[in-house]
Amino acid sequence: MKVLIIGSEGMLGHDLVDILSEENEINTTTIDTLDITDIGKTIAKVQEISPDVVVHAAAFTDVNGSETKKDLAYSVNGIGTRNVAVACKETNSALVYICTDYVFDGEKGSSYQEYDQTNPLSVYGKTKLHGETYIRDILSKFYIVRTSWLYGYHGPNFVTTMLKLAETMDTISVVNDQIGSPTYTMDLAKAISKLIKKPSYGIYHISNGGECSWYDYAKEIFEIAGIEINVKPVSTEEYPQPAPRPKYSVLENYNWKMEGFAEIRNYKDALQEYMKLI
Ligand SMILES: NC(=O)c1ccc[n+]([C@@H]2O[C@H](COP(=O)([O-])OP(=O)(O)OC[C@H]3O[C@@H](n4cnc5c(N)ncnc54)[C@H](OP(=O)(O)O)[C@@H]3O)[C@@H](O)[C@H]2O)c1
Repeated sequence: MKVLIIGSEGMLGHDLVDILSEENEINTTTIDTLDITDIGKTIAKVQEISPDVVVHAAAFTDVNGSETKKDLAYSVNGIGTRNVAVACKETNSALVYICTDYVFDGEKGSSYQEYDQTNPLSVYGKTKLHGETYIRDILSKFYIVRTSWLYGYHGPNFVTTMLKLAETMDTISVVNDQIGSPTYTMDLAKAISKLIKKPSYGIYHISNGGECSWYDYAKEIFEIAGIEINVKPVSTEEYPQPAPRPKYSVLENYNWKMEGFAEIRNYKDALQEYMKLI
C-alpha cells in the first residue's frame, strides 16, 4: 500500500516510518514540509501523493502548554486534523488519527472502552477530541486510535526524564494517584501496521497491557536500570500542574480484541526492551 505519514519526525512518527516501511511504500511529511494548519497546502500535498492510507501523527503535544497556548493547540489538533480529513476525502484515502486517553475525565473508576462517554478535562484533551469529531463528520474510512502515556526512542519522555533526574537527585517525588498504561511507540506502530490491512474502520484503544501510577512506573524504571534512589509518592494536589489530568485513564483494547488481534504485551515487558536500547 502507499502510505503517507504526517508528523514523521515526532516520537511516534519515527517508529511508524520504521515499521510501516517494512511492507508499504512510504511517503512522509514533517512540520517543515507540511504545516497541517494550512488547508490548501494540506490538500495539495495529499493529492500529490494520493496515498491509500494517511497516518496522521502530527500534533501540538505540550499538555501543560496547551492551557495557555489554546489557539495554537486548537489550530493544530482541531483545525489541522480537519484539514487532513478534508484532504483524505478528496483522495478517498483512509485516515489513521492518533488520539489520547486524555479525552476521558478518569471518573469511571474502571478501564475505558471505545463507546464510553468522553469528557476531556484539559485544553489538550478537548482539542484532540475536536480532531476526532471532525474526522467522524467528514470521513467514513478512518481509524481513530486512542493511546496513552507514550514513550519511544525518538523523543523525550517520562523514562528519559526520570533517568536524567536521577543523575542529580537522591529523592524524586512522583504522583501516585493518576493511573494509566505506559505504551511503547514501537508496539503501537506495529499494531497500526496490522490495523490498516483490514477495512475495519472505527475507534480503537491501543495501549500496552497492565496499569500503574506514575510512581509505580518510576519505581519500575529505576529497578530495570539498577539505580538506587528514593522515590517518594505524592498526590496530584501536592504536585500541581497547569493542565488537569484524569485520575484513572486505563484504556481497554476492546475493539482491537473484538477484531481478533492478539493482545498487546504488558507494559513491563515493553519497558524492559526499550530500556536495553537507551
Ligand atoms: N506522547 C504521549 O504521551 C501521547 C499519548 C497519547 C497520544 N499521543 C498522540 O500521539 C501522537 C504522536 O505523539 P508524539 O508523542 O509522537 O508527539 P511529538 O513527538 O510531539 O510529535 C508530533 C509532531 O507533530 C509535529 N507538528 C506540530 N505541529 C505541526 C503542524 N502544525 N503541522 C505539522 N506537524 C506539526 C511536531 O513538530 P515539532 O516537534 O517541530 O513541533 C512533531 O514532529 C499525537 O497525536 C499525540 O497527540 C501522545
